[in-house]
Amino acid sequence: MHFLITAGPTREHIDPVRFISNRSTGKMGFAMAQVAAARGHAVTLVAGPVALATPAGVTRVDVVSARDMLAAVEAHLPACEALVMCAAVADWRPAQVSAVKLKKRSMSPVLELEANPDILAAIRDRKGGRIFAGFAAETGDPRAEGRRKLVEKGLDLLVANDVSQPDAGFAVDTNRVILLTGDGREQSLPLLSKLQVAEQIVAWMEQAARRT
Ligand code: CTP
Repeated sequence: MHFLITAGPTREHIDPVRFISNRSTGKMGFAMAQVAAARGHAVTLVAGPVALATPAGVTRVDVVSARDMLAAVEAHLPACEALVMCAAVADWRPAQVSAVKLKKRSMSPVLELEANPDILAAIRDRKGGRIFAGFAAETGDPRAEGRRKLVEKGLDLLVANDVSQPDAGFAVDTNRVILLTGDGREQSLPLLSKLQVAEQIVAWMEQAARRT
């Protein structure tokens, strides 16, 4: 199969030195890419700004903003059979971007934002027979929120995790996730390394592709 995997945060610039972003480090998405390549799949990895080396055998496309990531996903999706949206896409961007560094005295204390595109919503009509997986990082009820996102975003698999736990979520090498599937099933995995979590997800997607 050919996997298209997104990873890391997006960065939404205010000016050349300032931006808004989030805590994603890309570890889960890069683990997904490493595992998919090691299992013999072609992998295109669309990465936001992260400090990680490209896994062996993976084609990497670097992007900065959510709109860049959308354009890269749209460009590479036709060649792929599976999409994993691991990236923590910034939902908002500054309404104005300055080409030069803003001076403190000329800045407003209120930052006006506008909505970024939802990448999964934007490409939903182009899913065809592809397998789509998403991730949800929650601080509340990962099951309920995960199920809502699975349905709203038209996914085959939603990987939900509780990022309020110190051993799961951002910047650590372990994760504790619940796999929620489009046919109403769920599976809670124990605390695992992100590579082990990725093994489970890629194996699930391989099986789902065989069923279609
Ligand atoms: N996602 C996306 N485009 C966005 C935001 C999120 O494609 N602009 C994808 C993520 O990559 C992930 C899934 O949607 O696979 C869920 O992301 P999440 O940030 O948890 O969901 P939101 O839609 O932002 O929902 P909420 O703010 O209600 O938590």
